[in-house]
Amino acid sequence: MKAAILGCTGYTGLVLLRYLLNHPEISEIIPVSSSSVGLSISEYDPGISDKILTKKVKDGLLKSVDDAKKSNPDVVFAALPHLESAKICSDFFESSVIIDLSADFRIEDGELFKKAYGEPHPNPLLQKEAVYGLSEWHGEKIKSAKLIANPGCYPTASLLPLLPLLKENLLKEEIIINALSGISGAGRSAKPNSLFVKRAENANAYNPGTKHRHQIEIKKELDFVTSTETRILFNPHLIPVRRGMVVTTVAKLKTEVNDATIKGIYNKYYANSPFVNILENSIPESGDCIYSNRCDISWQLEGDSIILFSTIDNLVKGASGQAVQNMNIRFGFDETLGLSVNGEL
Ligand SMILES: NC(=O)c1ccc[n+]([C@@H]2O[C@H](COP(=O)([O-])OP(=O)(O)OC[C@H]3O[C@@H](n4cnc5c(N)ncnc54)[C@H](OP(=O)(O)O)[C@@H]3O)[C@@H](O)[C@H]2O)c1
Repeated sequence: MKAAILGCTGYTGLVLLRYLLNHPEISEIIPVSSSSVGLSISEYDPGISDKILTKKVKDGLLKSVDDAKKSNPDVVFAALPHLESAKICSDFFESSVIIDLSADFRIEDGELFKKAYGEPHPNPLLQKEAVYGLSEWHGEKIKSAKLIANPGCYPTASLLPLLPLLKENLLKEEIIINALSGISGAGRSAKPNSLFVKRAENANAYNPGTKHRHQIEIKKELDFVTSTETRILFNPHLIPVRRGMVVTTVAKLKTEVNDATIKGIYNKYYANSPFVNILENSIPESGDCIYSNRCDISWQLEGDSIILFSTIDNLVKGASGQAVQNMNIRFGFDETLGLSVNGEL
């Protein structure tokens, strides 16, 4: 099968490239760049061996969007900035399955999209075709989707522990989500706020409450499974690590429950999900799922409240790993093909 990666020189694009080079069902990869056509991939990722690279990438060089169109890929991964992505990947819609890592197709409602991203949706007609790609929850729709909107990293880590409990009508509507992200979540372009001198030994909250775009994405997915509207206060923080995400969520319970009830609910929803790992007696740490496509989840009951803990690698389960998981589901491969459950030490 042939795959194109739009935005291959970015953080998520390069992680995708590594996964696809190892994926047994992918025979050819077209790595696309808008600014570096003709340059060698090794300029961006010297860690990939030329021998391995050239088995699947012709000449080991970055290609143009037109090259990708001519090669008629079966699947196109769009790892581009929001608003750019919908413009560029839409051209592939008739002939390829699209998996978009940006936010462009994640929010169906045009007004909500404009509220979150400040501009009208770049392609409202195509928006209607998109399936939200939270693999564990939308697998049936993903199997026949032409356009998969891969979720954001914050929404993935927030939604996976919350959805089963909301679906079982266990939680009150007001939910507080505190989230910590590694710096790679902001992409590779140079910004003063991402520089080492600013970020090392430094941490801060940003766009708290209802101000962050991902609050809208999280809320619309939670409201999809509840009969009432949730009120989400989402508090993201930047922490001085390269990759990794830690989410701590606090919610009030509607009824008294015990640990066995919570365990039973997670077992009901995730027993067959290879990438959701329920921990019973410990709080997950971001370092344990780095380089893996896993989401680790645990909880603690505190009177009439529950605290939920979840961790992912923002570049893997939060982006490129989940995108490959969605490709596997869409094309009928084993869900785990080419992906790592355990990551690396
Ligand atoms: N980083 C994460 O943890 C993460 C997690 C979930 C989702 N996402 C989403 O995934 C998408 C890619 O994220 P990323 O972190 O890989 O971004 P990135 O590191 O900034 O890379 C984006 C790539 O897009 C290309 N590009 C094309 N047009 C561009 C333009 N007008 N401005 C800037 N870049 C342009 C650039 O490559 P060329 O110059 O070679 O074309 C660039 O390398 C984003 O929409 C992001 O929100 C990221």
